[in-house]
Amino acid sequence: MASAQLRPHPVGKDPLVLGIETSCDDTSAALYRQSRGLIAHKSTCLSSTHRPYNGVVPELASRDHIGALLPLVEQVLAGRKPDAVACTTGPGLAGCLAVGVALAQSLAWSWRVPLAAVHHLEGHLLSPFLDPPPDFDFPYLALLVSGGHTALYDVAGPGNYLLLGETLDDAAGEAFDKTATLLGLPYPGAAGLEKLARRGNEQAASLPVPMLRQRGLNFSFSGLKTAARRRLEQGGKKADIAAAFQSAAIATLAGKTELALRRTRRKRLAVVGGVACNLALREALGKIADQRNALIACPAAEFCTDNAAMIALAGTRHLQSGYDLKIRPRWPLTSTDKDAPRCSPA
Ligand code: KG4
Ligand code: ZN
Repeated sequence: MASAQLRPHPVGKDPLVLGIETSCDDTSAALYRQSRGLIAHKSTCLSSTHRPYNGVVPELASRDHIGALLPLVEQVLAGRKPDAVACTTGPGLAGCLAVGVALAQSLAWSWRVPLAAVHHLEGHLLSPFLDPPPDFDFPYLALLVSGGHTALYDVAGPGNYLLLGETLDDAAGEAFDKTATLLGLPYPGAAGLEKLARRGNEQAASLPVPMLRQRGLNFSFSGLKTAARRRLEQGGKKADIAAAFQSAAIATLAGKTELALRRTRRKRLAVVGGVACNLALREALGKIADQRNALIACPAAEFCTDNAAMIALAGTRHLQSGYDLKIRPRWPLTSTDKDAPRCSPA
């Protein structure tokens, strides 16, 4: 419980918010004010630490955050004192979250400013507002594709999120990275796989498109990953397998997104999370949006991968009156708006 002594000073209507993100291996700090938008943003990802292990090693990522976070915070502040601090408190790697939360609490307490606990996925879902295309607004359908999550959400308004479908096994980004490793690309290999795919012939190694025959809005990627492994064992060319994998992954993401657009009748689509950096995916979804006469928003790459800008933006809605924050490594996204429908899987 926060004591009376530990209460922050009241905050004005349009606070300058410092955002902090450390839920996985990206360390990021940002300064945001709703009326002005993003003021400063700095990120670093020490993926080279994890390269020998072909995946994020939580203990090593936490140590990297300790070294990287404070210099980034100093750079974005550039001598300014914010009116509030927003920090990712979950879901994510517990040790990594702890580094960000500890610094956020300390800074907010010492400045006596409000603190906000931000759900990482709410950050991704609201990320289109960092740099929205003309006329982009609520409500919209969001395809969230990252290294840890793959899901479709109906975003009816701020704090009003309905889960329509999600992956039953691997996340899309995880499948891209693991298949890239299989093809001998250095970790994290998803961007390398996209490059390799441009030189390949997808017909030569064609792979089955997962889940398209199922009527629901869930995804599955582990079978596709295994099918890619089998093609390689059968002597398939790496570039062809990269092309076939990417094409099948995009076909399932695009197919389910189109179905969700039809079912929800939304006329706006947001594509968010690290996999939204993939240009072939953007192109495929752009075509679907065109066919359905829908407006599409794909944030710039720096706002697709994990970043503190989206956390500062989302945190502006969650400023609290005390300094006790809980880390929630597992935290389902339920609507933060009390009138919103509860999340229900497909
Ligand atoms: O959103 P993000 O930074 O972290 C999570 O919240 O998980 O997403 C990272 C994921 C990684 O799996 C990364 O390999 C993938 O996004 N990614 C890509 C591309 N660039 C990054 N996946 C497909 N194609 C890309 N070009
Ligand atoms: Zn993320």
